[in-house]
Amino acid sequence: MDTQSIVILDFGSQYTQLIARRIREQNVFSAVLPCTASLAEIKAYSPIGIILSGGPYSVYDADAPDADPGILDIGLPVLGICYGLQFIAHHLGGKVLSADKREYGHAEVHIEDSKTPLFAGLPTTLQVWMSHGDEALELPTGFHRTAATSNALAGIANETRRIWAVQFHPEVHHTPLGSQLLKNFVFGICGAQGDWTAAHFIESTVNSIREKVGQGHVICALSGGVDSSVAAVLVHRAIGDQLTCVFVNNGVLRKNEFTQVTKNLRDKLGLNLVPVDASARFLEKLAGVTDPETKRKQIGREFIAVFDDEATRIAEQTGGVDWLVQGTLYPDVIESSSVRGPSQTIKSHHNVGGLPETMKMKLIEPLRDLFKDEVRRIGRDLGMPEDILGRQPFPGPGLAVRILGEVTAERVAILQEADDIVVNEIKTAGLYSQVWQSFAVLLPVRSVGVMGDQRTYANTCAIRAVHSEDGMTADWVPLPYEVLKRISSRIVNEVRGINRVVYDITSKPPGTIEWE
Ligand code: XMP
Repeated sequence: MDTQSIVILDFGSQYTQLIARRIREQNVFSAVLPCTASLAEIKAYSPIGIILSGGPYSVYDADAPDADPGILDIGLPVLGICYGLQFIAHHLGGKVLSADKREYGHAEVHIEDSKTPLFAGLPTTLQVWMSHGDEALELPTGFHRTAATSNALAGIANETRRIWAVQFHPEVHHTPLGSQLLKNFVFGICGAQGDWTAAHFIESTVNSIREKVGQGHVICALSGGVDSSVAAVLVHRAIGDQLTCVFVNNGVLRKNEFTQVTKNLRDKLGLNLVPVDASARFLEKLAGVTDPETKRKQIGREFIAVFDDEATRIAEQTGGVDWLVQGTLYPDVIESSSVRGPSQTIKSHHNVGGLPETMKMKLIEPLRDLFKDEVRRIGRDLGMPEDILGRQPFPGPGLAVRILGEVTAERVAILQEADDIVVNEIKTAGLYSQVWQSFAVLLPVRSVGVMGDQRTYANTCAIRAVHSEDGMTADWVPLPYEVLKRISSRIVNEVRGINRVVYDITSKPPGTIEWE
């Protein structure tokens, strides 16, 4: 690898990804590897330093995750965080015991060794976030205590061996000066240059795609969302019209989305784009289906069938398709090798990237090292318009998972109108980029209303708006009453088929963001 990197070994902490993000924010590349990675796998990243993450275990648990202790001897600077500190103490001959008092939450740390480079420029008292039950009671030979709380040890170091460790979590926002501490490690101790910028990423990715693909032909399934669009634009920059993008109308897109996305990507960004209107095929498969998982599976299967047909057609025209672009992001890559193991499936996700192996194409995943916000930054540097980069997430199965009960062309049209009003009103109120998602859901509930002097008996629509960091958890947003009032009155007045609007005030958990 030609970029300087910091390798983070993951012992299963819920904060591990945050460590990576805090370091990348300083323009230094960081990779998260499972703690079980071999020394050779670690060295393949040519790291300039290693960070050992926290984790939910005690080093004495029978199933405690372990790393090769050789990492402490390869001559690279090491920073242990929480469990990482205990790992170091345990493997170098110290003693770790269950603490008398478990420390969880805010704490005050007193720095005892202000001269150690990890604490350079920091005040002698730090507000930090703690989350641990064990503590190192006897330090390994050559180590000294660098910080403590009123209860327990909070930091150790052996400067000759270039090993530092802290008991608290510098990567979380609750440790306000944590970024400075990480910066001290990455720049002051490891000697990073901070040259991992968007421009650098684009240049090296474009070069490596060019080299990989040669004269081959590449296809990409576009969804119109941020990830697949940025991935396509990067590949297009590398190989131009050797890339063909396929954009499928599955009949459950938002109002005018098919024409707008086609226009944006083809006309504004110059992609070689094949729009495929397969709505009739999808709606046929959805006829009579009311079970959420069956809907998802039908759409997923049909998508693969449509895409396969197109790929075959393109292969006939171009003499063969060798590569497939996928918009895989870094959290998926980390998750699939996490020591926490796979999490339970709540919903079967359908992503345009989830294509079968039988297609026999090699994969290009230009975003597999990036977090979502980094993808947006790359998109901006590529000159992509804000209306693509700022789009709220939209699920692969589209409006089908927001129409409860059967999905018919008529119900799709009703929801498209209501959804369009929600999106426009949220945009007008300046809230679109502040909320994670805001949308309408069509319920299989009819109620009585009155319009003019007429009795109505029509559908109910629910409005949902949530804040979230990553879609894993979410809080419902208290939209201003004025905005809700306009949305409600416009939907009932302008959308034929809806006579009642309700507001969803459920967070995730226990709810999910989408209704199905
Ligand atoms: P849930 O409903 O599981 O959604 O709380 C979490 C986030 O994931 C999005 N979502 C999907 N995205 N394919 C996707 O690409 C899917 O099948 C899918 N289902 C849900 C959802 O919009 C939210 O942002």
